[in-house]
This record gives sequence, structure tokens and C-alpha cells, in this order.
Amino acid sequence: MASLEIEETLEAVARHLARARRALFITGAGISADSGLPTYRGVGGLYNGEHTDDGIPIETALSGDMFAHHPEITWKYLAQIERTCRGAQPNAAHRAIATLEQVLPGVLVFTQNVDGLHAKAGSRNLIEIHGNLHELCCTACDYGEYIEDLAGRELPPTCPACGAVLRPNVVLFGEALPEAAMDRFLDELDQGMDIVFSIGTSGVFPYIAEPVLWAAQAGIPTVEINPEPTRLTPYVRYYLPLGAAAAMQGILDRLNRHGFHGI
Ligand code: OAD
Repeated sequence: MASLEIEETLEAVARHLARARRALFITGAGISADSGLPTYRGVGGLYNGEHTDDGIPIETALSGDMFAHHPEITWKYLAQIERTCRGAQPNAAHRAIATLEQVLPGVLVFTQNVDGLHAKAGSRNLIEIHGNLHELCCTACDYGEYIEDLAGRELPPTCPACGAVLRPNVVLFGEALPEAAMDRFLDELDQGMDIVFSIGTSGVFPYIAEPVLWAAQAGIPTVEINPEPTRLTPYVRYYLPLGAAAAMQGILDRLNRHGFHGI
């Protein structure tokens, strides 16, 4: 895409946002790539189809079934993911979304990320649909704790109250999505959206792709930010082939130039 076209797209998106009352930001691993975190697939992908050291696909290692029978295997890879997040800070994209929440009447972040960076940036109306890697809960009793990181923890971590294995509050492969969070998301969608963003996600899951497709079909402006085209690209109105931080900063700068809401 020529740089003039990117300029025009950034400008058009900023104009839509300036008029929007409610905006939805659907995010994936790519938004945290600019904070130095690896993604799962595509550019900078952590696994990219390779089998793990244990000779099994990562989806098997990180499944609810594996956790039930061999929590030490699941924890080995959860700990690998946690190490990649350690010390990571929100970037300009996370911060831009948190800023927009201060100035637009309704901003919702629906993220697949378990890294907690949206909350750290200040987003409050946030649905972490795959959970949060920093929240641990006991598999046997109601013990729970919040951890900054797993440094110095024995793996798998055990419950100080009853000795059972702890698990992170994340959705493992093959497990159901948290029902209350999904209901909240559907309620928000029912209230309507004026603009829908898909940022840094390959959109492999239907509950990620469908809201974008629904918005596109309903004529609601849709924006995709991803250096690589995805399965959603043909359907969105605006595609920005940029990193998340550069794109969101570019949009915020243009809103600023228009003197929008004192950003
Ligand atoms: P993926 O790893 O599937 O996709 C990340 C996307 O980010 C890719 O399309 C990249 O091209 C893009 N990307 C890379 N760098 C970027 C940047 N700087 N700015 C913007 N985009 C960039 O990640 P998700 O779509 O989040 O689930 O994956 C969904 C789920 O698959 C994860 O939540 C995880 C995984 O299995 C569970 O663990 C349940």
C-alpha cells in the first residue's frame, strides 16, 4: 500500500472515531508484539506449526485434557509464555486505546491476550476472553492469588492452603470460554457499535472474526491493523498494514490535530 493511501486511511479512521460514541477494539497477540512479546502465528510467531520439545503440538500441550493428566507438561509451556511476558510494558497502541476510553462515551476492549497489558495501560472496560496468566487459582479449593511473575516458583505451582496444583486463570485448548464474559460481550454488541477495530489478530476463532464480519455487513466502519493481511482483510473497510503502535499513534495524532475532545 502506498504511503499516501496509508495517510488517507489513517485520516478517514480518525474522522470516524471523532464522530463515534461507541468503539470496539478486538485485539490479539500482535498488539503486544510492539511491547516485545512474541505472537503465536505469523510474523514473530512463537510456534508457527512446529512441535514442542515434548514432540507434541502446542495446542495439545496447552489443552485442558493435558492439564488434567500431566499438569507439569502444560505448566512447562505456560511458564515459557509467562517468561516472554515478564517485565513487558504497554506500548503506544495499548495506551492510545486507554486514552480513547477517557474521551469517548463507550469503548470496549475484547482481547484474546493473557498478558494483562491492556489493564496495565489503564483500559477499564475490558474483557480478557482467554483470561489472565497472572491470576492463579487452586484446582481443588477456592484459593487464588495474583502473581507478577513465576520467577523462583516451583513448577507446577501448588496451593499453599491444600497442596493441590494451581492453574492460571486462562482458557486452555478444548475448554469452554468463560460464560459471564461472553454474555457481557454480547450485551455490549447489542447496544451497537459505531466503529470496530481488529488489531494484531489472525482471527482464527469464530468469536473474534464474527463480530468484525457482522459489523462489516451492517455497514459499520471496520478497521484492521496488521502488518500482514489475514482472513478478515477482504471484509474490512479500512486495512492498515502497519504495526499496532505506529497505527494507533498515527490515528491519535490526527484526532489531536483536529482538536478532538482535548486528547
Ligand atoms: P496470532 O499469533 O494468531 O496472530 C497474531 C497476529 O498479529 C498475526 O496476524 C501477525 O501478523 C500480527 N502482528 C505481528 N506483529 C504485529 C504488530 N506489530 N502489530 C500488529 N499486528 C502484528 O495471535 P492471536 O490472533 O491473538 O489462544 O491468536 C489467538 C489465540 O491463539 C491466542 O489467544 C491463543 C492462541 O492459541 C489460546 O491460548 C486459547
